[in-house]
Amino acid sequence: MKSRALLGLLADGQIHSGESLASFLGVSRTAVWKQIWRAAEEGHTIDTIRGKGYRLVSAVDLLDADQVLNALNADLGESIFLSVHDEVDSTNAEVIRQRVHHGASRTLVCLADCQTAGRGRRGRQWHSPRGENLYLSMGLTFRGGFAMLDGLSLVLGLAVAKALEKQGLSAVGLKWPNDVFVEGSKLAGILVELQGELEEGVVQVVAGIGINVHMSGTHNVTQAWTSLDQTMPEHRWERNQVAACVIESVLEASASFADTGFGGFRQQWQARDIFLGRPLITSDGILSGIGKGVDEQGNYEIEVNGVHEKVRAGEISLRASA
Ligand code: BTN
Repeated sequence: MKSRALLGLLADGQIHSGESLASFLGVSRTAVWKQIWRAAEEGHTIDTIRGKGYRLVSAVDLLDADQVLNALNADLGESIFLSVHDEVDSTNAEVIRQRVHHGASRTLVCLADCQTAGRGRRGRQWHSPRGENLYLSMGLTFRGGFAMLDGLSLVLGLAVAKALEKQGLSAVGLKWPNDVFVEGSKLAGILVELQGELEEGVVQVVAGIGINVHMSGTHNVTQAWTSLDQTMPEHRWERNQVAACVIESVLEASASFADTGFGGFRQQWQARDIFLGRPLITSDGILSGIGKGVDEQGNYEIEVNGVHEKVRAGEISLRASA
């Protein structure tokens, strides 16, 4: 975003003269005018007040690495390597690229203002409009081989749900395996990608988290969705704050997961299960029955004619049938 520095100055909603903006930015007044024009093209509403200057009318919520780090507790801040991008193809892809250059000493965390090729589960695209939502990826490392990762994606969904609850959101639900739902609409999605084995038994995973924060347009999203702004309009949602809270929650959950596996999270996950007791059908149409919650490995159980049938995450998806 070329107008980022300008928007940072206008973010206080006050009138700023072209001269003062030019002097702060170290550019000419014509260059300021061009940036104002570009910012308007990007969707920001800026009033020109004759003889006085410019005032940003629309709210702006800029991503800022320092603000994210300041909101984290100091130890955690030092344990991560945070990069904030104006635009990337996918923050998951960026973490995978960065891992080639960084050792495993710090957790790579990547945030972007927009993604040009955001990835969703099952090969779907994740719409990633500029400035509206949170696009966050974290490079996580676990010991114990791939087998110990059972249930990790559910734990990450739970970590996001808990972070949002900490920010004041209530009635946060989880749709197996890891979608975060509020009042029947999707608020956040998580894409876990296995990156491979660093050395025998040490596995690298990328946890990609997309949370709708200010999303306004439909952006061709086909399923029912909501955003933090829509769910809790009285709260001033700031992406840096939400990011810090989610990073903290994911780091905490990953450390416990390494000790306890999914078993340590099962009850908490179950308490937010939106499928529990509901009639369900698998995406291939083969199984239908009543939702019974998750087992110790994070598989979903459906009761079919009195028998509990297991559905494995990654193999199939579930939907309510009535
Ligand atoms: C889903 O389909 O529900 C998962 C969506 C995951 C989207 C996030 S946004 C940040 C990260 N980067 C990506 O390309 N995808 C994930």
